[in-house]
Amino acid sequence: MKFFADTADTDAIRELAATGLLDGVTTNPSLIKKSGRDIMEVTKEICSLTDGPVSAEVVALDHPTMMKEAEILRKIADNVCIKVPLTVDGLKTCKALSSDGTQVNVTLCFSANQALLAAKAGATFISPFVGRHDDNGFDGMQLIDDIRLIYDNYGFGTEILVASVRHSMHILEAAKIGADVMTAPPAVILSLFNHVLTDKGIAAFLKDWEATGQNIG
Ligand code: E4P
Repeated sequence: MKFFADTADTDAIRELAATGLLDGVTTNPSLIKKSGRDIMEVTKEICSLTDGPVSAEVVALDHPTMMKEAEILRKIADNVCIKVPLTVDGLKTCKALSSDGTQVNVTLCFSANQALLAAKAGATFISPFVGRHDDNGFDGMQLIDDIRLIYDNYGFGTEILVASVRHSMHILEAAKIGADVMTAPPAVILSLFNHVLTDKGIAAFLKDWEATGQNIG
């Protein structure tokens, strides 16, 4: 499963890239706002920090203006992936861009039927929001399971990009289901390293090692 960082914080992206765990980045208008930076400038810097896809989202609601915005965004770098909302105009834009060889991430997916539409429109990635789904009394992971089944039934190449990931259990469940990608805040990705028994084990080994009085090298 590929790991994307769901952030526009370039320091955090740099830190994750250094672990070798980073396969791409997703941004959205809220994350750009949080960064306090200009979308063109920050997206360009992010694209230089990873060879993987960097999702940059259009904000227009109509197809012609979405196309104009996509044209501007995709010139930022070769690894820009255009993010469009799951609407009629968004999927028209998805179809036009993907037919032209541009990577497209269809965002704000909350049903398996919506995911089916995005695959038919040639999306590179579909982004079902599991956290927001759970927050509203639905089962986010059931949604991923359903999309996996449907995509496998028909051999769709659209990659399932599990989004709105809140904690490590979302990542574990997504991996068990066979999602292609997950995007999460850097802190959630780094939390995967944590285990109390790892910490205890290191402390015990260090204590015994000190008692030997030895040094390596
Ligand atoms: C995905 O691409 C979105 O940017 C993101 O995962 C939304 O997550 P949130 O529900 O935590 O805002």
